[in-house]
This record gives sequence, structure tokens and C-alpha cells, in this order.
Amino acid sequence: MKTDPCTYVIFGATGNLARIKLIPALYHLDIENRLHDDTKIIAIGRRPWDNDKWVSEVRAMLEAKARGGIDEQVFKRFIARLHYHKGDMQQAECYSSLAQLLTDSVKFPQNMAFYLAINPSDFSHVIEQLSKPKLLDESQFWRRVIIEKPFGTDLESSRSLQNKISQYLKEEQIYRIDHYLGKGMVQNVLVFRFANSMLEPLWNRNYIDHIQITHSEQLGIGSRGPYYDHTGAMRDMLQSHLLQLLTLVAMEPPVSLDAEDLRDEKVKVLKSIRPIPEEAVHAQAFRAQYAPGEIDGKQVNGYLQEEGIPQNSVTETYAAMKLYVDNWRWRGVPFYMRTGKRMEKAQSMISICFRHAPSQLFAHTQAEKIKQNWLLLGIQPEECIRMEMTVKEPGLEMRTRISNLDASFRNEDELASDAYEDLLLDVIKGDRSLFLRYDEVEHAWKIVDPIINKWAVNRDYIETYPAGSWGPNECRLFEKESQSWRNTL
Ligand code: BG6
Repeated sequence: MKTDPCTYVIFGATGNLARIKLIPALYHLDIENRLHDDTKIIAIGRRPWDNDKWVSEVRAMLEAKARGGIDEQVFKRFIARLHYHKGDMQQAECYSSLAQLLTDSVKFPQNMAFYLAINPSDFSHVIEQLSKPKLLDESQFWRRVIIEKPFGTDLESSRSLQNKISQYLKEEQIYRIDHYLGKGMVQNVLVFRFANSMLEPLWNRNYIDHIQITHSEQLGIGSRGPYYDHTGAMRDMLQSHLLQLLTLVAMEPPVSLDAEDLRDEKVKVLKSIRPIPEEAVHAQAFRAQYAPGEIDGKQVNGYLQEEGIPQNSVTETYAAMKLYVDNWRWRGVPFYMRTGKRMEKAQSMISICFRHAPSQLFAHTQAEKIKQNWLLLGIQPEECIRMEMTVKEPGLEMRTRISNLDASFRNEDELASDAYEDLLLDVIKGDRSLFLRYDEVEHAWKIVDPIINKWAVNRDYIETYPAGSWGPNECRLFEKESQSWRNTL
């Protein structure tokens, strides 16, 4: 199904995000015939390039990223959409010349999406400048602006960003990306929960012991040292992506899949999370930093040896926290969340641990202590939904073992699309359900702010873990001895 004709304007088009994600995503949408024939893509960059040079750059991006290689026929169609606009986004001239270019309504459709693939500190400036030549005026056509986290660095700065940009944009025009919500398996969490009625009776405090949400990476911070050292894992991952996952797991069924209905329910979850008072931060949150270690048999640096990191940095590359959702469904069920760089394995998963069966019927047989059931939702790289069940081993003895019920999401011949494809398409369709509304951002900051503030003043010491491990051996977050991090799917 084709979409509205529009002009996609990318600020920061020569940067990493555009190269690795945005241009390949738009190309893949073209392959899927999702772009209107008239849709155009304007790249804004400072480099003194012409269109031919831009096309050759785009070709190089696609050579690296196009699934199954470049399809020459589609590529020809795709490059006819491209236009390079040289301009410095700090200068007013960039916007007046852009506005002038866009008056050519035959060449450039007047529905416009502005993707700000730039430093977040420039968001409000660019938005203000775009509003001056009326590029954000929706009196005749839609005008949408896409921004990506971080939306501020704490509650106060996120409010100040919001105050600035809301002078020029209505909330309906703002598309705040959390690319996690574009991942196929993340969307599948909703389908799995709300399309299978047998789960609903079990999805609550009566049957669930605790829930874990893990995102681990093998990679270190790479060349992002200066950004990362001011950010840390709590802001970089937990405040955004992992809290979003929590809302999807914990939310009530929405009235409809309409963006507002869905986001209303997510906000209710965030509002129900028990605030962490300053004195409880030690018990409910934990941070650590990677030390030198080994990944896949190769020695790797510790965080302090990475480029651009001050020797006395106590920025966390691992963060974990325990939250309680104080509502009728979840009261008393701990949600354990953790993320880390340079961990043993790259993996994102949600693990739901059910309570023990009420009676230990098999205690006096040769069956080992009966294990709790787990429901595992693998988000990446392995996408799966797996329920662990205890079954009897064949044979004369009463022994048991674990067997998996698998509800695989993708058949082998079904290729995974990138999260940005879904999201860029949703912008054109005007579907904001997978984008964050401002109140979600605000409530997410309210949850983590006490932790961030406490850590900011405790600057003497940070625990470390060897690169290539599952993080520090720390168990103070867990409520009971029977609870511990689950690392396997
Ligand atoms: C980004 C973080 O938002 O998400 C990165 O800034 C992190 O630090 C990345 O590596 C993880 O996303 P994905 O899609 O690679 O799992």
C-alpha cells in the first residue's frame, strides 16, 4: 500500500544515523513499494557536495546495508528521489534557501517530514528556524518533526526542551522515536498478550513471581566516549528503551490500538511505578563499569582505557534497578531491569518467572525439586516466545525435565526488517502509536531521576566487572534467594 506523497528532509544526513539506518530504511521502504512515486528525500549537510556526489555516497551506504545487495532497478527509482541541499543548520540562510527550494511544489510534495538526525542540543534551534519561513505550518499540508532520544538529561531539562519546542509545534506534529518500539518482537509483545486470551488470567500478581528485562551488549562504547561519559547506562538504556518494554509488558489492554489509547495505558503504568526515595536508591539500583577482560577470546580494554574517558570517571556502563508497579494487577511483583556494555553476550530479553505450583506433589518422588515455569520473550538477536514446562521423563521412574513450548515469530524465509523502516513509514502514515508522547518521557525521568541524582554525588567509587562477563556478582536487588538473573533463553 503506497502512502501520501511527501518530502522527507533529513538534517544531519551525512552523519552516522542517516548512513546506517535512515537512508537504508527509506531504500527498503521503496523496495516494498511503500513510498509514493512523487516522494522526495532532501539531505541537508554542510559538506560542499553536489547531487552526483550525494548519490555516490548513498550508493556506498546501501552497498553496506541493503538486504540482499542493491537492486539496480529500485536504486534508479530511489536516486531520482534524492536531493542534496548544502547548508549549515546553525545559519539562518540554510532555512531560507531550504524554504525557497521547497516552494517548487511540482518537484517537492508539500507534506513534509523533518528528521533531526543531529545533536539533541540543536533540536530547539532547528525547530525555531524551521518555523520562521512557515515550514511547520499545517494549514494546508501535514508537517512533522522527528526527534530521537535523549529528550533532555533529566526531568528539568526535558521540561525545558518541551517548553521550547512546543512553542513551534503541536504535540501531534512531534514524533519522538524510541527505536526499540520499532522492533518486530517488541510489537509482538502486544500481539502475544492481547491476541491470546488464555494468557490474560495468568498475567498478574497471583501467578507471576517476578519479571526481568535485560539488554546486554558485547560492544563497548566505541568512539562515543564523550557522549557516553556524560550519559551512562541508566540514561542511555534504562530510562528509555527498557522502561518502554516494561510498559508494554505491564499495561492494561487499551481501548483500541489508536495512538492515544495505547499511550494512555503506557502512561498509567509509568505513573503507577512506586517512586524510589533517595534512601532506597542503594537497595533498588546498582551501577558498575567494565574493566579489561576478554570477549570472544580477544583481550579488550576497560572503560577507563577507552578514548576520551577521564581516568577518574565513575560513569556506569552497567545499570540495574528494581521497580514495583503499584496497581491492582502488579502490586508486590518486582520488575528487575538491567543493561550493560561489554557483557558476555549481546541479547535482549524479557523473562517472566511464574510462581511455584501451590503444592509440592512430587516432593517424595525422584523428580528433582520442581522448577518454576518461565515465559521467555527473546527480542534480539534471537526472536522467540518460549514457555518452559515441566514434563515427565519417559521411563519407569518419576523424573521430570523441562520442555519448551515454542511460538516462533518468524519463519526462516521471512527476513527481519529494521525498526527504522516501520517507524519512518509510520511518520508518513501519521501513526504515532510507536512514538513517545511527552508525558511518557516526563514520567520516565521522574522514575530514574532520584537514582541519577544520588549517583551524581557519589563520585568516589564504582564497582567494576570484567569485560566479557555477565556483569557484577551483585544480588542485593533480589527479594528472595530463589531469584537471580536469568542469562539464557
Ligand atoms: C541506543 C543507545 O539508543 O541503543 C546505544 O544509545 C545502544 O548505547 C543502542 O547500543 C542499542 O540499540 P540496539 O537496537 O542496537 O539494541
